[in-house]
Amino acid sequence: MIQCKTSKAIGGMGHSLKRKEDARFIQGKGNYVDDVKLPGMLYMDIVRSPYAYAKIKKINIEEALKVPGVVAVVTGRDLEKYNLHWMPTLMSDTQMVLPTDTVMYQSQEVAAVIATTKYAARDGREAVTVEYEPMKPVIDPFKSLDPAAPVLRSDKEGKKDNHIWNWKVGDKEKTDALFETADVVVKEQMHIPRIHVASIETCGCVADYDKVNNHLTMYMTTQAPHAIRTVIALVAGHVGLTEEKVRVIAPDIGGGFGGKVPVYPGYVIAIAVSFLVGKPVKWIEDRSENLQADSFARDYHITAELAGTKDGKILGTRFKILADHGYTDASANPSKFPTGMFSIATGSYDYGTTYMECDAVYTNKPPGGVAYRCSFRVTEAVHAIERITDRFAFEVGKDPADLRMQNFIKKEDFPWKSPTGWIYDSGDYHAGLQKAMDALNYNDLRREQAEKRAKGELMGIGISTFTEIVGAGPSKDFDILGIKMFDSAEIRVHPTGKAIARFGTKSQGQGHETTYAQIIAEELGIPAENIAIEEGDTDTAPYGLGTYASRSTPTAGAAAAIAARKLRDKARKIAAYLLEVSEDDLEWEPGKFFVKGAPEKAKTIQEIVFAAYTNHPQGMEAGFEATHYYDPPNLTFPSGAYICVVDIDRETCEIKVRRFVAIDDCGNIINPMIVQGQVHGGLTQGIAPAMYEELIYDESGNILNGTFMDYLVPTAVESPNWETGHTVTPSPHHPIGAKGVGESPTVGAPPAIANAIVDALTPFGITHLDIPITPFKIFKALKEKGAFADA
Ligand code: CDP
Repeated sequence: MIQCKTSKAIGGMGHSLKRKEDARFIQGKGNYVDDVKLPGMLYMDIVRSPYAYAKIKKINIEEALKVPGVVAVVTGRDLEKYNLHWMPTLMSDTQMVLPTDTVMYQSQEVAAVIATTKYAARDGREAVTVEYEPMKPVIDPFKSLDPAAPVLRSDKEGKKDNHIWNWKVGDKEKTDALFETADVVVKEQMHIPRIHVASIETCGCVADYDKVNNHLTMYMTTQAPHAIRTVIALVAGHVGLTEEKVRVIAPDIGGGFGGKVPVYPGYVIAIAVSFLVGKPVKWIEDRSENLQADSFARDYHITAELAGTKDGKILGTRFKILADHGYTDASANPSKFPTGMFSIATGSYDYGTTYMECDAVYTNKPPGGVAYRCSFRVTEAVHAIERITDRFAFEVGKDPADLRMQNFIKKEDFPWKSPTGWIYDSGDYHAGLQKAMDALNYNDLRREQAEKRAKGELMGIGISTFTEIVGAGPSKDFDILGIKMFDSAEIRVHPTGKAIARFGTKSQGQGHETTYAQIIAEELGIPAENIAIEEGDTDTAPYGLGTYASRSTPTAGAAAAIAARKLRDKARKIAAYLLEVSEDDLEWEPGKFFVKGAPEKAKTIQEIVFAAYTNHPQGMEAGFEATHYYDPPNLTFPSGAYICVVDIDRETCEIKVRRFVAIDDCGNIINPMIVQGQVHGGLTQGIAPAMYEELIYDESGNILNGTFMDYLVPTAVESPNWETGHTVTPSPHHPIGAKGVGESPTVGAPPAIANAIVDALTPFGITHLDIPITPFKIFKALKEKGAFADA
């Protein structure tokens, strides 16, 4: 077992072992968007709404224009002239770039101030005054569907309510019938709170429109540069920005975690201004803007039910969700999956019946629904199934580990078809849980817990045995705005045997520079240090859908292996020619082909590559490069068994995570150190919503914790020692048997922690607490149950 103390900031970023040191994209020093400094560059700052719902009566810009250095103030009315005041969201809803008459959430962009320095832009922003007519906002999603609630999206013709869409999957009739007759039915109402992607760098861009060549270079914090370029061309093609005239460059972006997939108004305004004034325009959010206005994650209200037998067999589940999307559905989900991969909520258990339904509603809150370090709503799904499974174990009086062992899908039953239609590729859930239990002597802990309970002390043990679903996707089912979700690799080996490989994905700290080079090295025998890896420049990299939802290894990683294998096939032909033998007489060992039975007759990959440029067989295409666009036949299904042990102070209700063991199974591991870094960071981002993070709004739509003073991001101080390990169940369909891993810990950790805390409180009849579970929440729950005789 490996132990490490880490902070969200460090662990969340993972490690880029071969960090790019050159500044090839950027004129100036450094590799971040904020490092971009271009001649004549202007700076943009944004005026934001103090109200959650208000009519704009007047925007007064005169004083701002008098501020030295301010060159322009842009409003929605200005953008309207170019039809750029609205933009599409990734879920085909519509979002204001700048409002023309109404603001829909607190901190919404109202106007942009352009100036010669960032300080002048900020002074200009302070000098803009806006006259509002506040209206009563809709904040509670349950009230949003009330017939008396105002229709928020009156911009949509014929819209008569705040309902966005209804989604359902499973067999309602069969599930309802099961719940009528089952011996045991348990039910809990859960809220998976609205949280924020607190990446180290905020969002920003430099839009550099070159009037002479009618060309836009967009340096931007994006996880999906190619898709963004296509969206820019679709939105702004009518003003001349067609796709070949747009270059998107995503340098080091300082973490993404799903929050840098959407297009934010700031990007669009910067492009529009650069286009109009013909100068580069830089926009970098500050920390509070990022926290208050950018896409949120989660915010699912879930009614979870489970039906089973008295001896602990799970028979079926039912989930009803109310999804609060804010004022527009700006989720970053594949188009056909409005609830993302929520339908994986049947979990790691073998049963045949489920029914899931979701209604999405508009409220006066910021838009979003991004996949914060999770595969499109898997976190919500895993929380629901893992919590309700524990609730069931409590109800039937079984140990939650035994009950899980009893219900797991058996390893010989893979591939396994879930009641919602997913084909789980492989897994060995029993082995994972057993390994986690052995790591902390589970039975001893239960004995200790019994002794402590007898003394009135609060100790809890929580388990989460989750199945993830990552690697979107097979293109037959997965697209974003119609763009199919494959991914790509292009390998070019130079005559001297050194290579450059480019990808459609975009690392944000996950270490692709290392692991992609390792995949190619393994397949071709070229040392990893001789392979340069590049991502994030649409002018050079092959088209791909980007990095989020742990899709890079399952898609682009596979593309790298297959492109390398194409090259190995060519190498075999060249080696046969050079050695004057038949291709069938050759054998491969990493780095060379040799003649069967005569290993001294060999050609190294470097010799073969050199021949591809200097002495290739006549009739064969010269050079040594290959590209592959990989369309996965299925998703990959990583899994994990996490166990958390907590002690809760009986007086202060302070929670101490004493131990946390995480056993992950991501198939074949490319780089154990990178995987470990991913798991540490992910676990810290898992403890975050379990114990600390939640965006809170009052009835007027004011955010009550809009800075890091109040929105508690865990640091090394709050993080326990993570004890990590793994089991290996290769994916049968992935070329190198790997599954994704980056998000498993963020997905798996919250229910393990919540289950541990609730387990500590079960002697008081407490069966559920919503995350984040704070000492105060525990105090209130215990008080309600009469736990404090003198309180
Ligand atoms: O899409 P993203 O890079 O965020 O997620 P991922 O595919 O889960 O990969 C995260 C990092 O872990 C990458 O550098 C992967 O190559 C590495 N990894 C690995 O070494 N072995 C695996 N089985 C899975 C991922």
